[in-house]
Amino acid sequence: MEYRGYDSAGVGILTNDGIRVIKSVGKVNDLTNVQDLNAISGHIGIGHTRWATHGKVNVENAHPHNSCHGEMSLVHNGIISNFQQIKKELENDGHKFKSDTDSEVIVHLFEKYFSSGNSIKSALLKTVNRLKGSFAFVIVLRDEEIIIGARYGSPLIIGLGNSGSYLTSDILGFIEFTDKAVFLENEEVVVLGKHQFEVSDFEGNMIAKHVTQVAWEFGTPTKEKYSHFTLKEILEQPLALRRVLSQDKEQVELFCKKLRSKPRVVITGSGTSFHAGLYAHHILKTLAKISSDVIISSELYPHDIDHNTSLLVLSQSGETADALKATRIARDAGCQVLSIVNVTGSSLARESDISLPLNCGPEVGVAATKSFTSQLALIYLISSRMGIGDDNMLADISQKVETVLRQAKKIERLISGYTDARDFYFIARSIHIPIALEGALKMKELSYVHAEGMAAGELKHGPLALITQGTPVVVINPMDDSYQDTLDNTIELKARGAKVIGISTVSNEVYDDFIPIPKVHPSLSPIIEVIPLQLLAYYAAVKAGQDPDYPRNLAKSVTVN
Ligand code: F6R
Repeated sequence: MEYRGYDSAGVGILTNDGIRVIKSVGKVNDLTNVQDLNAISGHIGIGHTRWATHGKVNVENAHPHNSCHGEMSLVHNGIISNFQQIKKELENDGHKFKSDTDSEVIVHLFEKYFSSGNSIKSALLKTVNRLKGSFAFVIVLRDEEIIIGARYGSPLIIGLGNSGSYLTSDILGFIEFTDKAVFLENEEVVVLGKHQFEVSDFEGNMIAKHVTQVAWEFGTPTKEKYSHFTLKEILEQPLALRRVLSQDKEQVELFCKKLRSKPRVVITGSGTSFHAGLYAHHILKTLAKISSDVIISSELYPHDIDHNTSLLVLSQSGETADALKATRIARDAGCQVLSIVNVTGSSLARESDISLPLNCGPEVGVAATKSFTSQLALIYLISSRMGIGDDNMLADISQKVETVLRQAKKIERLISGYTDARDFYFIARSIHIPIALEGALKMKELSYVHAEGMAAGELKHGPLALITQGTPVVVINPMDDSYQDTLDNTIELKARGAKVIGISTVSNEVYDDFIPIPKVHPSLSPIIEVIPLQLLAYYAAVKAGQDPDYPRNLAKSVTVN
């Protein structure tokens, strides 16, 4: 579960001497290194990996958080937006807080209601009904053989195994032990025993739940022989691209029909998924003759959509809070929601009218790599089924990606010539602009070097002032309609001292360094172009001594707005 945050980690285990809480700053490995967890014996426990929102990264703010007398311990995902008010009230009641987190109020609030004579369930219901914001939390109690949890906005899933039960934010948390899952919906609480569970809504009405069998193939991934998950996932792309094509034909047809059924299409996503959305905008226009607007999920407001809109949401995890918020705004406006996700049991997949899977397997590296190229391929597939494209060309694309991946060593050597660079610019035109943006995003998040992606034609309107002797500029310029214009801009850059890395189907003397890419249909070229950019960013990070799998301050799944 470390992909959800890795600032700090902690566990709370019910032992004969009460709940033993162990926490440390850093990743799970740091926790196991400083403490001999094996020496603790117990059969009920909770654990958490944190991505700091409220309060610094330190041991006090790491989860679990205990009640005043250690009778209960809590882990929480999300944000409690009214925590200040609740904290004041509880402090007035005599509760002592040990952290700066918003989360800690939950356990004290539960303690307050439970210690004043309410049953566990009724204290839990009273607690959740006081909280605002978003949460999935789990509490272990010193004197009970159960754990309890609640969901509002953030995911929570029960796993039912032969030797016990689990409650986690993702099936990856228990898939090693069981493939039987029960997905909690928003505004549900659970009381979980070793072999039984009871789910209720926030009013206390019991809810009958359905047990789902989830795919084992989403099992816990390992790095195998690779030094990092990021490298493994970059190299896995030929296989991932082949797997995208294994879609249920009828579902794809239905998806296309729904996308066409409303007069307006709005595409949304965050970060890399937003870049895939920009590609979708181009390709829907050129292949399917569908015009669309692309809106970053965190910037989507009710005035952007109405009931005549189909919202196409792109997300690897399906749990990104911004994407889910956009989805809920769309639902409230009566829009139709279509999504493309990698994690099929995710909140987004479940809240959409229809959802297509990327099928690219778990992506562990925080930087999206194989999920991005899979998004592009699936968007191409849909657009071509709706219009004039030929999706047979996709079958060929994975081989072409392989030829670029064979240049990994060369790209590693190439980036060694840029280790002193403090800024990188990525330029392109037309359908290649999303790739320039993506190349810059990968470079900054993995190597911590400032990077900007932009439309090549915009350079002369301002950014050219930043170019001095030796400034690295990556130019994405395969031979197509925009080739000559981009080349002209590159020559202008050279005249001002830029050091140019060219990525193209044709070499040119203007490039100081050149990464050749194979010629493919212009609509599919972005899938090929992004591969060298991923490798550049990956090797830049490794050379700078950064861990590309876990960039600082980030989390794989961003579950707060
Ligand atoms: C960048 C990256 C992020 C994600 C973004 C959305 O490499 O991975 O920008 O793309 O947080 O995540 P999903 O696609 O899971 O919604």
